[in-house]
Amino acid sequence: MNILVIGSGGREHAIAKAIVRSPKVKTVYCAKGNPRMAQDGIVCVDISETDKQALVQFAKEHEISWTFIGPELPLFHGVSDAFEQEGLLVFSPSQRAAKIEYSKDFAKELMKKYNVPTAQSQTFTDFEKAKTYCLEKGVPIVIKADGLAAGKGVVVAMTEQEALDALSLMLIDGSYTNDNDVARVVIEEYLEGEEFSVFSFVKGRKAWFAGISQDHKRAYDNDKGANTGGMGAYSPVPQFDQTVIDDVMMHVVQPIIDGLVLEGASYTGVLYAGLMMTKNGIKVIEFNARFGDPETQVVLQRLKSDFVEIITDILEDKEPTIEWRQSGITLGVVVAANGYPSAYVKDLPLGTLTVPQHTSMELFAAGVTEKNGEYVSSGGRIFLVSATAQTVKEAQQEVYTYLSENPIPQTFYRQDIGSKALR
Ligand code: AMP
Ligand code: GLY
Repeated sequence: MNILVIGSGGREHAIAKAIVRSPKVKTVYCAKGNPRMAQDGIVCVDISETDKQALVQFAKEHEISWTFIGPELPLFHGVSDAFEQEGLLVFSPSQRAAKIEYSKDFAKELMKKYNVPTAQSQTFTDFEKAKTYCLEKGVPIVIKADGLAAGKGVVVAMTEQEALDALSLMLIDGSYTNDNDVARVVIEEYLEGEEFSVFSFVKGRKAWFAGISQDHKRAYDNDKGANTGGMGAYSPVPQFDQTVIDDVMMHVVQPIIDGLVLEGASYTGVLYAGLMMTKNGIKVIEFNARFGDPETQVVLQRLKSDFVEIITDILEDKEPTIEWRQSGITLGVVVAANGYPSAYVKDLPLGTLTVPQHTSMELFAAGVTEKNGEYVSSGGRIFLVSATAQTVKEAQQEVYTYLSENPIPQTFYRQDIGSKALR
């Protein structure tokens, strides 16, 4: 089989690597991928992740059995629909179903209608009304732009001023990607608790657990600094056991995918539930229409079964066999360019981007390009290094020893990935 992965970051590196491992696969293509992927036998294709026509044509010409779309932007642009329209198999949601990620308003309405536990909220388009509501509710309060905002659409306002600044930015100056050209915000109750995420493979009304992880969204240790795409993750999450997973599958995932079918937006692909364990139980913070980055890099290493067989079976409406490693933990730390998530330095020399062989360590490249035959950085999050060990402490030790022995000037990483599992 030949498989096409769309995207170019660490998540797509991990997905493509899981596909390469399958004996069923001849060639894995990644559009556009990144130059480090070649070391793992992944073939990069120079097509933009939103160029529907070129992607479809490539899939036809290269006898692609199915395509897997990694990031949210192509989903928003209907790349999945373009494949479907040509009769090509794709394990990713339609533009309509992906709305669960790119419209916070749509997601909240769906959760309310189908009784999925989430923070109380109200949606606004009018600045004055939104302001009155915020002042009435008081801080802390959470303000979310209704649209794709590349991780910058959520403001957890601890002061009234922060809340009003966010409203003004999102409703008055707003330039977020949504499908209705009207700036809209969801104003939401502030939830306290510990965050984690659960992934599912979904087809219509059927869902299968696809991993649990905890991301670290803030740039610096102890959850300080700006919100980022994610600075590190581990899987599984010992403080959230099988009972929690069962609860999520039954009370969050099943009702939401049933709801999507009933709304005429049947879902195929990976569904990401971003969750908060509050003292009143599990609440949904957000849904994403895809795997998480950097969660995928650790989650897929927990999979014992053949990833390609799983996706093929689901697409063919057969019951997949999905087995997970039962013991140990996989933990990954992101190395980012100084300045990230604001303006960051680029073109940093990265060396060979390899980890010692015959260890549990893996490296997934994200913001990496090639200049004069050398790897150099091109993105804010540059790569992730992971290790698998019996305990969180041992995995941390392995990753952090490697990172301190292989320093890269003008980069930084969090020193406390996994620490919540040790409390
Ligand atoms: P997002 O950009 O949607 O991933 O959200 C960014 C972060 O905002 C989440 O990871 C949470 O830490 C935080 N957040 C979102 N909604 C809430 C909420 N209702 N209460 C508290 N924190 C929240
Ligand atoms: N790591 C968070 C996300 O992928 O949205």
